[in-house]
Amino acid sequence: MKPQIVQIRKELLSIINAVKTRIEIEKGFGVNTITLSKPNNVMTQPAKNPLTKKKPIKTTEADRQINVSEKERKSQLLEELRKEMLVCHKCSLGKTRTNLVFGVGDPMAKLMFVGEAPGRDEDLQGEPFVGRAGQLLTKIIEAIGMKRSDVYIANVLKCRPPGNRNPLPEEIVLCMPYLIKQIETIQPKVLCALGTFAAQTLLNTKAPVGTLRGRFHEYKGIPMMVTYHPAYLLRNPNDKAKVWDDMKKVRDFLNEL
Ligand code: URA
Repeated sequence: MKPQIVQIRKELLSIINAVKTRIEIEKGFGVNTITLSKPNNVMTQPAKNPLTKKKPIKTTEADRQINVSEKERKSQLLEELRKEMLVCHKCSLGKTRTNLVFGVGDPMAKLMFVGEAPGRDEDLQGEPFVGRAGQLLTKIIEAIGMKRSDVYIANVLKCRPPGNRNPLPEEIVLCMPYLIKQIETIQPKVLCALGTFAAQTLLNTKAPVGTLRGRFHEYKGIPMMVTYHPAYLLRNPNDKAKVWDDMKKVRDFLNEL
């Protein structure tokens, strides 16, 4: 066989393998269908000219030091906030919870997820999204090529509503300043609101999540994707393809940074 043909064959095989891996990831996250929908991203950016590709930026030792101290500063601010919340009794949920569910992840995260409120597993472990919905969220994060530890995950409410009832409007109002502080400290490049409560609270709207999802909104200047909550996906697996579409937009946005 001619060397060029051998080379083309090799390249084709590596493309096929990459596609296979991608399909496996998508299947793992539960996507079995492909939706062909028009892009409806309000912040759609013009396609980048490959000739104007960004030059890789060299990280110097000084940059690394700045990053380390910035991470320490953010971690410290978050820890101070967590301590403040440990004694929070602004609403009655502080009395019924087992653990405060403050938030978890990288204080320097570019991507921050906001869910609704802790459930039973989260209340017991003191960490957001560790139950069945959380396991699905972890798969979603991995499907866009990231690790759970790369992102930051928080909820609108930090204490479990008894019996997993919906958060009450007054509980949201009282707990919101803590979420705002978390977002201001982390300063993510992108937010992702999971489900009705996170989306409606952060966007100050009553619009249903089905009409908000799939496009970038803005929360105080930060681009924010709205998508379905993983717990909803467990009940409605046919909508996984829509979430996959939403998350690809988040992935592409982050890749363009
Ligand atoms: N659902 C949420 O909204 N948050 C969690 O932490 C767990 C389940």
